[in-house]
Amino acid sequence: MAPIALSALNEPSVEGIAPPAVRKPAYKIASIPADGIGPEVVDAGIAVLKAIAKKRGTFELNFDHLDWSSDRYKQTGSYLPENHLDILRAYDAILFGAVGAPDVPDHISLWGLRLAICQPLQQYANVRRTRVLPGTSSPLANCKPGQLDWVIVRENSEGEYAGQGGRSHTGHDHEVATEVAIFTRTGIRRIARFAFQLAQSRPRKMLTFVTKSNAQRSGMVLWDEVMYEVAKDFPDVKLDHMLVDAMTVRMVLHPESLDTIVATNLHADILSDLAAALAGSIGIAPTANLDPSRKNPSMFEPIHGSAFDITGKGIANPVATFWTAAEMLEWLGEKEAGDQLMAAVEEVCKKGIKTRDLGGNATTKEVTAAVVQEILK
Ligand code: NAI
Ligand code: MG
Repeated sequence: MAPIALSALNEPSVEGIAPPAVRKPAYKIASIPADGIGPEVVDAGIAVLKAIAKKRGTFELNFDHLDWSSDRYKQTGSYLPENHLDILRAYDAILFGAVGAPDVPDHISLWGLRLAICQPLQQYANVRRTRVLPGTSSPLANCKPGQLDWVIVRENSEGEYAGQGGRSHTGHDHEVATEVAIFTRTGIRRIARFAFQLAQSRPRKMLTFVTKSNAQRSGMVLWDEVMYEVAKDFPDVKLDHMLVDAMTVRMVLHPESLDTIVATNLHADILSDLAAALAGSIGIAPTANLDPSRKNPSMFEPIHGSAFDITGKGIANPVATFWTAAEMLEWLGEKEAGDQLMAAVEEVCKKGIKTRDLGGNATTKEVTAAVVQEILK
């Protein structure tokens, strides 16, 4: 008798052999709520993620909570355990809240936690989507629905935040400090390719790249050169170039003329806050720190910070965390679940169930409950 090929065992028709159960993917997610409103919005994000996993029943999400935060720093002198990268590499994705405490200098908290994860895990592409959600409005008087739909790609591993610099003669009048921006051909090329691919995947196939190559004549000029080089591989993408100062004007006056945008670490950091405000609130803006090579887990977080002024009041807008949770699902290969989650968020916004920053009066918990209900209905 001819041996049965292993693949044939999948055939339900082979008599007496039950087809193997299709294994449900179970994703391991590290949650790092950290500081301020971080825990409030991450709790909310996990609630809606659990609801979507339950509703669909086709995948599981398992969360582990890591207490890496400014409290940990104040107690132990460090935001992170020494083996934090090994710990994180065991996960499929990271859901991050926000870091920053009133009694810790911001450069200590940012470098101590967030940048200590993004840079070593090579999450070099920071993707920031902006849209005016239903039920919210742009502060731009003439911005009609659908006219502001952008995705900003921020170089997330080098540039102005490379960490190169130092101070001498501290405290003296002739104290000197340097903050050196590092731009590499490899770093620019990989973010350029990523941005072109993303632009290509969107209906308008438009990419605007932003530099300041009139005033900064080394690193920024290298950016320009590499962008035009990479453009040759993407003839179907319409490319244009803006200087960063003029870009702020174009974002405000002609939002409809932009689609995908790519810029350096600093420039895109600033432009994406502007984008979030133009779309209605920083409380809705998501961000994904991606390692496109998929060698390391990617990290998903709201754009906003720890918002001390509203911490503990129960009024933080959880929508940014919901949106970034939807992007996390998409990155994990569960795009339909991500779309369903965003559709539920949009439905709840449309009904006017929104927090104060969007002109509503709902609490974080009320918005979350409404989204969970919408998902499960
Ligand atoms: P922020 O984003 O925390 O707050 C700016 C303003 O927006 C505040 O008035 C705040 O109440 C409001 N806001 C922010 N998120 C909101 C939400 N979800 N719902 C409703 N309103 C919201 O920025 P800020 O005040 O400059 O920084 C506070 C701390 O956060 C600092 O320590 C800063 O370093 C840190 N930070 C951390 C970030 C991160 O972890 N990725 C990003 C930005 C700031
Ligand atoms: Mg920022």
